[in-house]
Amino acid sequence: MDNFVKQAQHFAALAEISGVLYDQTLRYEILQLVADMVTTIMEADVSLLYLTDERTGKLRLEVARGLAEKDLAKLHRGETLKKSGIQMVRFPLKFKDNNYGMLTVGRINRVWSENDLEVLDLLTRLVSGAINKNQFLYKMRKTYLETVKGFAMLIETRNYYAQGHSERVAALAVNLAGLLGLPEETLIDIEIAGILHDIGKIGIPEILLNKHAKLNQDEFEVIKKHPCIGASLVGSIQGLQKLVPYIQYHHERFDGSGYPDGLKGSQIPLEVQLISIADVYEALTSPRTYREALPTDEALKIIKDGSGKWFNPKLVETLETLIMAQRHKKPLAQSYPNKFSFNLSGPENHLTPREMEILALVGKGLTNKEIAQQLFIAERTVKSHLTSILRKLDLSDRTKAAIYAINQGITG
Ligand SMILES: [Fe+2]
Repeated sequence: MDNFVKQAQHFAALAEISGVLYDQTLRYEILQLVADMVTTIMEADVSLLYLTDERTGKLRLEVARGLAEKDLAKLHRGETLKKSGIQMVRFPLKFKDNNYGMLTVGRINRVWSENDLEVLDLLTRLVSGAINKNQFLYKMRKTYLETVKGFAMLIETRNYYAQGHSERVAALAVNLAGLLGLPEETLIDIEIAGILHDIGKIGIPEILLNKHAKLNQDEFEVIKKHPCIGASLVGSIQGLQKLVPYIQYHHERFDGSGYPDGLKGSQIPLEVQLISIADVYEALTSPRTYREALPTDEALKIIKDGSGKWFNPKLVETLETLIMAQRHKKPLAQSYPNKFSFNLSGPENHLTPREMEILALVGKGLTNKEIAQQLFIAERTVKSHLTSILRKLDLSDRTKAAIYAINQGITG
Protein backbone atom coordinates (compact mmCIF):
# COMPACT_ATOMS: atom_id res chain seq x y z
CA MET A 1 0.00 0.00 0.00
CA ASP A 2 1.16 3.52 -0.76
CA ASN A 3 3.00 4.95 2.23
CA PHE A 4 1.11 8.22 2.16
CA VAL A 5 -2.27 6.46 2.09
CA LYS A 6 -1.18 4.27 4.98
CA GLN A 7 -0.09 7.26 7.08
CA ALA A 8 -3.37 9.02 6.33
CA GLN A 9 -5.24 5.92 7.51
CA HIS A 10 -3.17 5.83 10.67
CA PHE A 11 -3.98 9.45 11.48
CA ALA A 12 -7.66 8.97 10.70
CA ALA A 13 -7.70 6.01 13.10
CA LEU A 14 -5.90 7.99 15.80
CA ALA A 15 -8.34 10.88 15.38
CA GLU A 16 -11.27 8.49 15.72
CA ILE A 17 -9.84 6.82 18.81
CA SER A 18 -8.98 10.13 20.47
CA GLY A 19 -12.55 11.33 19.79
CA VAL A 20 -14.03 8.21 21.37
CA LEU A 21 -11.66 8.35 24.35
CA TYR A 22 -12.27 12.05 24.91
CA ASP A 23 -16.05 11.76 24.83
CA GLN A 24 -16.76 8.71 26.85
CA THR A 25 -16.09 7.09 30.15
CA LEU A 26 -13.64 4.29 29.54
CA ARG A 27 -15.46 1.02 29.31
CA TYR A 28 -14.69 -2.45 28.21
CA GLU A 29 -16.24 -1.82 24.78
CA ILE A 30 -13.79 1.01 24.17
CA LEU A 31 -10.82 -1.20 24.96
CA GLN A 32 -12.25 -3.62 22.43
CA LEU A 33 -12.48 -0.84 19.88
CA VAL A 34 -8.83 0.06 20.47
CA ALA A 35 -7.80 -3.57 20.01
CA ASP A 36 -9.88 -3.83 16.82
CA MET A 37 -8.35 -0.70 15.36
CA VAL A 38 -4.82 -1.80 16.17
CA THR A 39 -5.53 -5.11 14.51
CA THR A 40 -7.03 -3.73 11.32
CA ILE A 41 -5.32 -0.38 10.78
CA MET A 42 -1.89 -1.39 12.07
CA GLU A 43 -2.23 -4.77 10.36
CA ALA A 44 -1.30 -6.63 13.52
CA ASP A 45 -1.68 -10.39 13.61
CA VAL A 46 -1.95 -10.37 17.38
CA SER A 47 -3.14 -7.55 19.68
CA LEU A 48 -3.24 -7.91 23.45
CA LEU A 49 -4.47 -5.27 25.85
CA TYR A 50 -3.55 -5.75 29.49
CA LEU A 51 -4.66 -3.68 32.48
CA THR A 52 -2.83 -3.52 35.78
CA ASP A 53 -4.89 -5.05 38.56
CA GLU A 54 -5.11 -2.33 41.22
CA ARG A 55 -5.13 -4.85 44.04
CA THR A 56 -2.28 -7.14 43.03
CA GLY A 57 -0.31 -4.80 40.74
CA LYS A 58 -0.14 -7.63 38.16
CA LEU A 59 -1.07 -7.34 34.50
CA ARG A 60 -4.41 -8.86 33.57
CA LEU A 61 -5.26 -9.65 29.97
CA GLU A 62 -8.45 -7.78 29.08
CA VAL A 63 -8.79 -7.93 25.31
CA ALA A 64 -7.12 -10.24 22.83
CA ARG A 65 -7.30 -10.36 19.06
CA GLY A 66 -5.86 -12.87 16.62
CA LEU A 67 -5.24 -15.74 19.01
CA ALA A 68 -6.62 -19.25 19.02
CA GLU A 69 -8.32 -20.27 22.24
CA LYS A 70 -5.48 -22.59 23.28
CA ASP A 71 -2.97 -19.70 23.01
CA LEU A 72 -5.35 -17.46 24.91
CA ALA A 73 -5.68 -20.05 27.66
CA LYS A 74 -1.86 -20.20 27.89
CA LEU A 75 -1.68 -16.41 28.29
CA HIS A 76 -4.35 -16.49 30.98
CA ARG A 77 -2.21 -19.07 32.79
CA GLY A 78 0.71 -16.60 32.65
CA GLU A 79 2.69 -18.56 30.02
CA THR A 80 4.53 -16.78 27.21
CA LEU A 81 3.24 -16.75 23.68
CA LYS A 82 5.37 -18.78 21.27
CA LYS A 83 4.70 -18.44 17.57
CA SER A 84 7.28 -18.86 14.87
CA GLY A 85 8.25 -15.67 13.04
CA ILE A 86 6.27 -13.41 15.37
CA GLN A 87 7.68 -9.98 16.16
CA MET A 88 6.08 -8.61 19.30
CA VAL A 89 6.34 -4.99 20.43
CA ARG A 90 5.21 -3.73 23.83
CA PHE A 91 3.96 -0.30 24.81
CA PRO A 92 3.29 0.47 28.48
CA LEU A 93 0.02 2.23 29.24
CA LYS A 94 1.61 4.79 31.50
CA PHE A 95 0.64 8.27 32.61
CA LYS A 96 3.16 10.12 34.77
CA ASP A 97 4.01 7.64 37.55
CA ASN A 98 0.94 5.50 37.06
CA ASN A 99 1.23 2.16 35.27
CA TYR A 100 -2.16 1.26 33.91
CA GLY A 101 -1.25 -1.69 31.74
CA MET A 102 0.33 -2.72 28.48
CA LEU A 103 -0.48 -2.95 24.79
CA THR A 104 1.33 -5.78 23.06
CA VAL A 105 1.07 -6.22 19.31
CA GLY A 106 2.66 -8.75 17.02
CA ARG A 107 3.17 -9.41 13.34
CA ILE A 108 4.08 -12.78 11.91
CA ASN A 109 6.88 -12.73 9.32
CA ARG A 110 6.52 -8.98 8.83
CA VAL A 111 8.50 -6.25 10.56
CA TRP A 112 7.26 -3.07 12.21
CA SER A 113 8.39 0.17 10.51
CA GLU A 114 9.51 3.27 12.42
CA ASN A 115 6.28 4.95 11.43
CA ASP A 116 4.19 2.04 12.74
CA LEU A 117 5.96 2.23 16.09
CA GLU A 118 5.42 6.00 16.31
CA VAL A 119 1.70 5.59 15.62
CA LEU A 120 1.43 2.82 18.22
CA ASP A 121 3.33 4.96 20.73
CA LEU A 122 0.92 7.85 20.16
CA LEU A 123 -2.04 5.51 20.43
CA THR A 124 -0.93 4.10 23.78
CA ARG A 125 -0.39 7.65 25.08
CA LEU A 126 -3.98 8.48 24.12
CA VAL A 127 -5.32 5.35 25.82
CA SER A 128 -3.17 6.00 28.92
CA GLY A 129 -4.49 9.59 29.14
CA ALA A 130 -8.06 8.31 28.87
CA ILE A 131 -7.50 5.72 31.61
CA ASN A 132 -5.94 8.42 33.79
CA LYS A 133 -8.91 10.74 33.24
CA ASN A 134 -11.28 7.89 34.03
CA GLN A 135 -9.39 7.00 37.21
CA PHE A 136 -9.42 10.62 38.32
CA LEU A 137 -13.18 10.95 37.77
CA TYR A 138 -13.71 7.61 39.50
CA LYS A 139 -11.75 8.70 42.58
CA MET A 140 -13.50 12.10 42.69
CA ARG A 141 -16.84 10.39 42.49
CA LYS A 142 -15.86 7.90 45.18
CA THR A 143 -14.87 10.69 47.57
CA TYR A 144 -18.10 12.53 46.81
CA LEU A 145 -20.15 9.38 47.42
CA GLU A 146 -18.33 8.65 50.67
CA THR A 147 -19.22 12.15 51.91
CA VAL A 148 -22.86 11.74 50.94
CA LYS A 149 -22.95 8.26 52.53
CA GLY A 150 -21.45 9.65 55.74
CA PHE A 151 -24.23 12.21 55.84
CA ALA A 152 -26.92 9.56 55.28
CA MET A 153 -25.37 7.30 57.95
CA LEU A 154 -25.53 10.13 60.43
CA ILE A 155 -29.29 10.32 59.83
CA GLU A 156 -29.65 6.55 60.04
CA THR A 157 -28.03 6.43 63.50
CA ARG A 158 -31.25 8.01 64.75
CA ASN A 159 -33.23 5.08 63.39
CA TYR A 160 -31.69 1.82 64.54
CA TYR A 161 -33.56 -0.47 62.14
CA ALA A 162 -32.83 1.59 59.05
CA GLN A 163 -29.06 1.24 59.15
CA GLY A 164 -27.64 0.61 55.70
CA HIS A 165 -31.13 1.02 54.19
CA SER A 166 -30.26 4.04 52.04
CA GLU A 167 -27.16 2.47 50.61
CA ARG A 168 -29.01 -0.74 49.74
CA VAL A 169 -31.87 1.22 48.14
CA ALA A 170 -29.34 3.17 46.07
CA ALA A 171 -27.57 0.00 44.90
CA LEU A 172 -30.84 -1.73 43.97
CA ALA A 173 -32.24 1.33 42.16
CA VAL A 174 -29.04 1.74 40.16
CA ASN A 175 -29.04 -1.94 39.23
CA LEU A 176 -32.60 -1.61 37.97
CA ALA A 177 -31.73 1.57 36.07
CA GLY A 178 -28.75 -0.23 34.53
CA LEU A 179 -31.03 -3.01 33.32
CA LEU A 180 -33.32 -0.45 31.73
CA GLY A 181 -30.30 0.97 29.91
CA LEU A 182 -30.48 4.44 31.46
CA PRO A 183 -27.41 6.60 30.76
CA GLU A 184 -24.45 6.63 33.10
CA GLU A 185 -25.01 10.22 34.32
CA THR A 186 -28.54 9.23 35.37
CA LEU A 187 -27.17 6.22 37.25
CA ILE A 188 -24.91 8.55 39.23
CA ASP A 189 -27.88 10.81 40.10
CA ILE A 190 -29.97 7.78 41.08
CA GLU A 191 -27.22 6.49 43.34
CA ILE A 192 -26.81 9.78 45.19
CA ALA A 193 -30.57 10.37 45.38
CA GLY A 194 -31.03 6.79 46.62
CA ILE A 195 -28.58 7.42 49.44
CA LEU A 196 -30.23 10.73 50.32
CA HIS A 197 -33.89 9.83 49.73
CA ASP A 198 -34.80 9.76 53.45
CA ILE A 199 -32.58 12.66 54.48
CA GLY A 200 -35.73 14.57 55.50
CA LYS A 201 -36.12 12.19 58.45
CA ILE A 202 -33.63 14.48 60.16
CA GLY A 203 -36.68 16.68 60.87
CA ILE A 204 -38.81 13.86 62.32
CA PRO A 205 -38.77 13.11 66.07
CA GLU A 206 -36.69 10.03 66.89
CA ILE A 207 -39.49 8.58 69.01
CA LEU A 208 -41.66 8.26 65.89
CA LEU A 209 -38.87 6.80 63.75
CA ASN A 210 -38.28 4.04 66.31
CA LYS A 211 -41.83 3.43 67.49
CA HIS A 212 -42.58 -0.30 67.97
CA ALA A 213 -46.37 -0.02 67.70
CA LYS A 214 -48.17 1.00 64.52
CA LEU A 215 -48.28 4.77 63.97
CA ASN A 216 -51.59 6.54 64.50
CA GLN A 217 -52.92 8.93 61.83
CA ASP A 218 -51.47 12.07 63.47
CA GLU A 219 -48.08 10.45 63.81
CA PHE A 220 -48.19 9.28 60.21
CA GLU A 221 -48.97 12.85 59.11
CA VAL A 222 -45.71 13.91 60.79
CA ILE A 223 -43.74 11.14 59.05
CA LYS A 224 -45.29 12.19 55.73
CA LYS A 225 -43.46 15.48 55.97
CA HIS A 226 -40.03 13.91 55.44
CA PRO A 227 -39.99 14.03 51.60
CA CYS A 228 -40.63 17.81 51.63
CA ILE A 229 -38.13 18.42 54.44
CA GLY A 230 -35.53 16.38 52.51
CA ALA A 231 -36.29 18.14 49.22
CA SER A 232 -35.85 21.59 50.72
CA LEU A 233 -32.63 20.47 52.43
CA VAL A 234 -31.16 19.03 49.22
CA GLY A 235 -32.41 22.04 47.26
CA SER A 236 -30.38 24.33 49.47
CA ILE A 237 -27.10 22.54 48.67
CA GLN A 238 -25.21 23.77 45.62
CA GLY A 239 -24.88 20.99 43.04
CA LEU A 240 -27.63 18.81 44.51
CA GLN A 241 -30.63 20.85 43.32
CA LYS A 242 -31.31 18.49 40.43
CA LEU A 243 -32.01 15.75 42.99
CA VAL A 244 -34.95 17.63 44.52
CA PRO A 245 -37.66 15.71 42.55
CA TYR A 246 -36.09 12.38 43.56
CA ILE A 247 -36.40 13.24 47.25
CA GLN A 248 -39.73 15.07 47.02
CA TYR A 249 -41.55 12.32 45.07
CA HIS A 250 -40.08 9.10 46.45
CA HIS A 251 -43.37 8.23 48.24
CA GLU A 252 -45.61 8.98 45.26
CA ARG A 253 -47.46 5.97 43.85
CA PHE A 254 -48.18 4.97 40.26
CA ASP A 255 -51.98 5.24 40.75
CA GLY A 256 -51.78 8.67 42.42
CA SER A 257 -52.45 7.43 45.95
CA GLY A 258 -49.05 8.46 47.32
CA TYR A 259 -47.79 11.60 49.04
CA PRO A 260 -47.02 14.51 49.27
CA ASP A 261 -48.34 15.66 45.86
CA GLY A 262 -50.50 12.75 44.69
CA LEU A 263 -48.70 12.52 41.35
CA LYS A 264 -49.56 9.57 39.12
CA GLY A 265 -48.11 7.56 36.21
CA SER A 266 -45.67 9.46 34.03
CA GLN A 267 -46.02 12.57 36.23
CA ILE A 268 -43.56 10.74 38.48
CA PRO A 269 -40.16 10.67 36.75
CA LEU A 270 -39.08 7.10 35.94
CA GLU A 271 -35.84 7.56 37.92
CA VAL A 272 -37.90 8.41 41.02
CA GLN A 273 -40.17 5.41 40.43
CA LEU A 274 -37.02 3.26 40.51
CA ILE A 275 -36.05 4.62 43.90
CA SER A 276 -39.62 4.08 45.19
CA ILE A 277 -39.79 0.42 44.18
CA ALA A 278 -36.26 -0.20 45.50
CA ASP A 279 -37.20 1.56 48.76
CA VAL A 280 -40.27 -0.63 49.31
CA TYR A 281 -38.53 -3.88 48.32
CA GLU A 282 -35.57 -3.13 50.58
CA ALA A 283 -37.84 -2.19 53.47
CA LEU A 284 -39.84 -5.42 53.07
CA THR A 285 -36.73 -7.60 53.04
CA SER A 286 -35.20 -5.88 56.09
CA PRO A 287 -36.33 -6.23 59.71
CA ARG A 288 -38.44 -3.44 61.17
CA THR A 289 -39.30 -2.52 64.76
CA TYR A 290 -42.68 -4.23 64.34
CA ARG A 291 -41.81 -7.29 62.18
CA GLU A 292 -39.09 -9.66 60.92
CA ALA A 293 -37.55 -9.30 57.46
CA LEU A 294 -39.75 -10.93 54.80
CA PRO A 295 -38.34 -13.65 52.53
CA THR A 296 -37.62 -12.52 48.94
CA ASP A 297 -40.55 -14.45 47.45
CA GLU A 298 -43.01 -12.91 49.87
CA ALA A 299 -41.63 -9.40 49.28
CA LEU A 300 -41.75 -9.92 45.52
CA LYS A 301 -45.35 -11.12 45.76
CA ILE A 302 -46.34 -7.94 47.63
CA ILE A 303 -44.59 -5.84 44.98
CA LYS A 304 -46.31 -7.79 42.19
CA ASP A 305 -49.69 -7.32 43.90
CA GLY A 306 -48.97 -3.58 43.76
CA SER A 307 -48.19 -3.63 40.02
CA GLY A 308 -50.19 -0.91 38.25
CA LYS A 309 -51.33 0.40 41.65
CA TRP A 310 -48.30 1.42 43.68
CA PHE A 311 -45.78 0.59 41.01
CA ASN A 312 -45.18 0.91 37.31
CA PRO A 313 -45.74 -2.63 35.88
CA LYS A 314 -42.62 -2.33 33.74
CA LEU A 315 -40.49 -1.73 36.83
CA VAL A 316 -42.12 -4.63 38.67
CA GLU A 317 -41.03 -6.88 35.79
CA THR A 318 -37.52 -5.43 35.86
CA LEU A 319 -37.27 -6.03 39.59
CA GLU A 320 -38.41 -9.62 39.17
CA THR A 321 -35.82 -10.17 36.40
CA LEU A 322 -33.09 -8.79 38.65
CA ILE A 323 -34.08 -10.81 41.70
CA MET A 324 -34.37 -14.04 39.66
CA ALA A 325 -31.03 -13.39 37.98
CA GLN A 326 -29.36 -12.81 41.35
CA ARG A 327 -30.91 -15.97 42.69
CA HIS A 328 -29.65 -18.07 39.77
CA LYS A 329 -26.39 -16.10 39.55
CA LYS A 330 -27.18 -15.15 35.99
CA PRO A 331 -24.99 -12.49 34.42
CA LEU A 332 -26.54 -9.07 33.98
CA ALA A 333 -24.36 -7.15 31.59
CA GLN A 334 -25.61 -3.71 32.49
CA SER A 335 -25.77 -4.16 36.20
CA TYR A 336 -24.00 -1.92 38.66
CA PRO A 337 -21.31 -1.33 39.92
CA ASN A 338 -19.39 -2.71 36.98
CA LYS A 339 -20.13 0.37 34.89
CA PHE A 340 -17.98 2.58 37.05
CA SER A 341 -15.53 0.26 38.68
CA PHE A 342 -12.18 -0.30 37.14
CA ASN A 343 -12.73 -4.02 37.05
CA LEU A 344 -13.74 -3.80 33.43
CA SER A 345 -13.91 -7.53 32.99
CA GLY A 346 -16.84 -7.93 35.38
CA PRO A 347 -17.47 -9.78 38.60
CA GLU A 348 -17.15 -13.51 39.18
CA ASN A 349 -19.80 -15.88 37.85
CA HIS A 350 -20.48 -13.53 34.96
CA LEU A 351 -19.77 -14.22 31.34
CA THR A 352 -16.12 -13.88 30.41
CA PRO A 353 -15.15 -10.83 28.32
CA ARG A 354 -14.91 -13.08 25.24
CA GLU A 355 -18.37 -14.52 25.90
CA MET A 356 -19.77 -11.01 26.33
CA GLU A 357 -18.28 -10.04 22.95
CA ILE A 358 -19.82 -13.08 21.28
CA LEU A 359 -23.20 -12.55 22.96
CA ALA A 360 -23.23 -8.93 21.75
CA LEU A 361 -22.54 -10.07 18.19
CA VAL A 362 -25.23 -12.76 18.43
CA GLY A 363 -27.58 -9.97 19.51
CA LYS A 364 -26.62 -8.06 16.37
CA GLY A 365 -27.74 -11.04 14.29
CA LEU A 366 -24.30 -12.24 13.14
CA THR A 367 -23.78 -15.89 12.23
CA ASN A 368 -21.05 -17.99 13.86
CA LYS A 369 -18.98 -17.62 10.71
CA GLU A 370 -19.29 -13.82 10.74
CA ILE A 371 -18.44 -13.70 14.45
CA ALA A 372 -15.40 -15.90 13.86
CA GLN A 373 -14.21 -13.59 11.08
CA GLN A 374 -14.74 -10.47 13.15
CA LEU A 375 -12.92 -11.84 16.20
CA PHE A 376 -10.21 -13.69 14.26
CA ILE A 377 -11.05 -17.00 15.89
CA ALA A 378 -12.21 -20.37 14.59
CA GLU A 379 -15.89 -20.96 13.92
CA ARG A 380 -15.90 -24.01 16.20
CA THR A 381 -14.51 -21.81 18.99
CA VAL A 382 -17.47 -19.46 18.58
CA LYS A 383 -19.73 -22.49 18.74
CA SER A 384 -18.21 -23.72 22.00
CA HIS A 385 -18.43 -20.24 23.51
CA LEU A 386 -22.05 -20.03 22.52
CA THR A 387 -22.75 -23.37 24.22
CA SER A 388 -21.17 -22.01 27.39
CA ILE A 389 -23.18 -18.75 27.13
CA LEU A 390 -26.47 -20.66 26.75
CA ARG A 391 -25.60 -22.85 29.74
CA LYS A 392 -24.65 -19.91 31.96
CA LEU A 393 -27.74 -17.93 30.97
CA ASP A 394 -29.99 -20.96 31.16
CA LEU A 395 -31.26 -20.28 27.63
CA SER A 396 -32.33 -22.95 25.15
CA ASP A 397 -31.19 -21.53 21.83
CA ARG A 398 -29.41 -18.83 19.86
CA THR A 399 -32.57 -16.79 19.21
CA LYS A 400 -33.23 -16.54 22.94
CA ALA A 401 -29.61 -15.48 23.47
CA ALA A 402 -30.04 -12.75 20.83
CA ILE A 403 -33.23 -11.52 22.50
CA TYR A 404 -31.48 -11.58 25.88
CA ALA A 405 -28.57 -9.54 24.48
CA ILE A 406 -30.96 -6.95 23.02
CA ASN A 407 -33.05 -6.72 26.20
CA GLN A 408 -29.95 -6.33 28.34
CA GLY A 409 -28.66 -3.59 26.05
CA ILE A 410 -25.33 -5.28 25.39
CA THR A 411 -25.45 -5.10 21.63
CA GLY A 412 -23.94 -1.62 21.82
FE1 LIG B 1 -38.97 7.82 52.75
